[in-house]
Amino acid sequence: MSITGFLRGKGPSGFGWSSTAEEIVEDLDLSDRTILITGSNSGLGAETARVLAMKGAKVLATARTEEKAEAAVREMEGEAIPLICELGDPQSVRSCAGAVRDLEVELDAIICNAGIMALPKRETLFGYEKQFFVNHVGHFILVTELLDLLADDGRVIAVTSEAHKMAPADGIQFDDLSAEKHYGAWRAYGHSKLANVLFARELAYRFENSDTSRVANAAHPGPIDTNLTRNINVLARGIWSAFGPFFLKSIPEGAATQTWAAVHPDTAELNGEYLLDCNVARSSSNAADLEMAHRLWEVSEEIVAGL
Ligand SMILES: NC(=O)c1ccc[n+]([C@@H]2O[C@H](COP(=O)([O-])OP(=O)(O)OC[C@H]3O[C@@H](n4cnc5c(N)ncnc54)[C@H](OP(=O)(O)O)[C@@H]3O)[C@@H](O)[C@H]2O)c1
Repeated sequence: MSITGFLRGKGPSGFGWSSTAEEIVEDLDLSDRTILITGSNSGLGAETARVLAMKGAKVLATARTEEKAEAAVREMEGEAIPLICELGDPQSVRSCAGAVRDLEVELDAIICNAGIMALPKRETLFGYEKQFFVNHVGHFILVTELLDLLADDGRVIAVTSEAHKMAPADGIQFDDLSAEKHYGAWRAYGHSKLANVLFARELAYRFENSDTSRVANAAHPGPIDTNLTRNINVLARGIWSAFGPFFLKSIPEGAATQTWAAVHPDTAELNGEYLLDCNVARSSSNAADLEMAHRLWEVSEEIVAGL
């Protein structure tokens, strides 16, 4: 256990900073569940998928290429199906949704886990800032394409970050989604992670006003040393890795909150929440702004229609 884990202890759920994904599923039999997870070949996605498959879930494991998806499922004990999903390519995302449809499954959970962080220079895809596109728009396409396959009590988890608080003070930059006027690596990452929370809030609102008991939540995994830091400079990366064991979560600990949200019985009715350390937490005020969430949904629909 890291020093932070020792100091933080556990929360009202009985889990906390140091809980691992394996501990979350310890008493669960997931053999009747089908769960899709993006970015299942690396870091938190790989660990979440491994643990869910180990407990009997049928895991639909996406990665950017066939090779990566197949290599990922080879690491999993249980039933895992490799799928290709490049979130920066709408065609690939739609093909992935088509491949899921061909499997004739009902989805019990969709975990929107894949992501990129802090690109040093501004990059765009289809005219939109790349982190916003990959982390938000790609997942928006995937989830909306798959909604009719989601079980009546299905769950959607948007993996976000505390870094959503690094988004611009006025929230989503509707007039600068290309980040042409103002780009900063962390600002843009935070902006995309704010979009992830708002996406979950709006989806939760829609579920609440439907005749299903579906839920949607946003989960922050915690700070963990993974490949996500690939774009950070070498010195910062070295410091992050060197001090990680004392202050960061391990990958099994980092995978716990999204696993808790996806399968634990205690979270079956949690809807529209921001989750951290396997407990309900407070997001930024922008991330709780339903008007912003509605507008982001509408703008995302317009973006997708134009792709
Ligand atoms: N680690 C942390 O400290 C931390 C903190 C807060 C939030 N998070 C969030 O946790 C999630 C998982 O991150 P991680 O730490 O496990 O990082 P990771 O090890 O780098 O895994 C990220 C995954 O996303 C995939 N991915 C990247 N770009 C993609 C694209 N264009 N299309 C489809 N998949 C793509 C990666 O595929 P490739 O391997 O092919 O690149 C990889 O499978 C992310 O959403 C991240 O924002 C992480």
